[in-house]
Amino acid sequence: MSRPFIYGMSVEGELFTDRELETKRLQLNFEHGVNSILISPRRMGKTSLVKKVKSLTESKTLKVVYMDIYKCRTEYEFYEKFASSVIQATSTKMERMVANAKEFLMGVSPKIVVSPEPTTEFSLSLGVNPRVNVPEEILDLPEKIARKRGIQIVVCIDEFQQIGEMPDSLTIQKTIRSVWQHHQHTSYCLFGSKQHLMSNLFYSRNMPFYQFGDMFFLRKIPTEKWVSFILSRFEVAGKSISEGLAGKICSTVENYSAYVQQLAWNVLTATEMEATEQNFREGLEATLAQVAPLFVEQTANLSSLQLNLIRSICSGYHNDFGKHEVTSRFNLGTRSNLPKLKKALKEREIIEETESGLFLSDPLFAVWFKNNMM
Ligand SMILES: Nc1ncnc2c1ncn2[C@@H]1O[C@H](COP(=O)(O)OP(=O)(O)OP(=O)(O)O)[C@@H](O)[C@H]1O
Ligand SMILES: [Mg+2]
Repeated sequence: MSRPFIYGMSVEGELFTDRELETKRLQLNFEHGVNSILISPRRMGKTSLVKKVKSLTESKTLKVVYMDIYKCRTEYEFYEKFASSVIQATSTKMERMVANAKEFLMGVSPKIVVSPEPTTEFSLSLGVNPRVNVPEEILDLPEKIARKRGIQIVVCIDEFQQIGEMPDSLTIQKTIRSVWQHHQHTSYCLFGSKQHLMSNLFYSRNMPFYQFGDMFFLRKIPTEKWVSFILSRFEVAGKSISEGLAGKICSTVENYSAYVQQLAWNVLTATEMEATEQNFREGLEATLAQVAPLFVEQTANLSSLQLNLIRSICSGYHNDFGKHEVTSRFNLGTRSNLPKLKKALKEREIIEETESGLFLSDPLFAVWFKNNMM
């Protein structure tokens, strides 16, 4: 039996809902060789969307390479991942991988190794290194293969914000951009969370990746889509839930994708046949218990002034933190200290700044904080 709800890994098939517009847009970009940049908060559905579009667009003449660079800490770790992913995805047979690597890259020592990833059995190790491989050669690899084979390649790089965290990041970015901008048969889909890092890479005029491609922000899945999704998944499990309670699941977690599925799962678990208010409360409690350790860790090292800024936001203040009304209720230190407080909490992804002011990034963090820290 298929699982009614899944959270914490990318989803597909029946567990994937909505996103028709984004799917269409990304699909057109892939087919027409337009670079895409996709940004959203954590666990909103970037990976799921890109994998869906990959499966929709792949054909004999269009190859989509997917790689996750979350674990790459240095420039050459990235090049190794980049080159091996490109070779693997464009080789039709495993036996061809080693030969292809030798054909397109100088001085590498390709080996098939047992994969550390649980989803694949083997992977390709190339031994890319600075003594024999210059960055430009590696970065040109997909274009070389595409030209030689007469195909089009889309390279999708998940957790791309890692590039911004590497030592000497600006030089790396300049190198990458200078090579990729000449590519005619390869396009790129770069995506990641950690919004402040992604924004640093793509929003500022003097950064190499400024205006690199079609940039879009993954919106939240609307309530009506979630409600019918939740109802149908309860049905699959032989249970039922009212539209009202399904709506309450969405509003409690402000439609954050992974949280909707997590809370829905916990409500389902608490439900005998038809979900009640009591089952909803039990489900919410279970969910908060699951996420609490992370929040405890996130707040453990915050200063009292930082905690006070969070308290003021939880009490409904989003602007005017210098106003007497706010400073008399919450000790936020001196007015000149405020930018530093904001910056520290933004970097920890605890708060975010929108046109309407400061807000907590995570809706369950807000519920937890109010219950435990106020
Ligand atoms: N289109 C969707 N329909 C239903 N649920 C979704 C959808 N997209 C995402 N989700 C939910 O969100 C969870 C996380 O999805 P995914 O891993 O694709 O997000 P992400 O933005 O790549 O996350 P991360 O920031 O961790 O990389 C999924 O396990 C699922 O519960
Ligand atoms: Mg992801």
